[in-house]
Amino acid sequence: MKFALSIIAATGLTLGVVTAVVAQDDPVERRIAIMKDNGRQLGQIVPMTRGEKDFDAEVVAAAFQKLADNAASIDVDALFPEGSDMHAETKAAPAIWEKMDEFKAAMDKLKADTAEVAANPPTELAALGPAIGQVGQNCGSCHENFRLEDN
Ligand code: HEC
Repeated sequence: MKFALSIIAATGLTLGVVTAVVAQDDPVERRIAIMKDNGRQLGQIVPMTRGEKDFDAEVVAAAFQKLADNAASIDVDALFPEGSDMHAETKAAPAIWEKMDEFKAAMDKLKADTAEVAANPPTELAALGPAIGQVGQNCGSCHENFRLEDN
């Protein structure tokens, strides 16, 4: 009995470790996590443009820096491997692999725009809307072309 329990415990432990490694290495999980964080960053600053939150230059600069870091961390070849539109959780559209050059160009534009804004972040409320616009147009147009609709 003692023996059986220790085997179960040891197996459980091993499985736990393997699962954690797989989740971290799974390109679909990784790209979704990065995208979720993009949404979180915009969620910090968009309410400032609506007067729902006070403008805070430090929060704004940090959010744009994180958006730029997120964009820079996306290696399209690594995070969007062929066939990964078949993953259960993904909303990646087949168009990504049909028009890979266009998709990569859209990702490069996100990298360029986020880097530009992060290097010179808005220091007053009047400049926040246009900066969000410059970054946000990338999100919307890529999703329109390369992400499946929510069910
Ligand atoms: C070049 C294309 C591209 C750009 C630019 C882009 N996204 Fe995405 N985004 C995607 C794709 C593709 C998915 C679907 C990924 C998946 O499900 O595998 C996605 C998914 C998402 C999701 C859903 C994540 C989830 O919970 O499933 C959010 C939120 C998101 N993006 C936010 C953003 C924001 C905010 C920006 C702009 C700062 C942005 N994205 C820019 C391609 C892009």
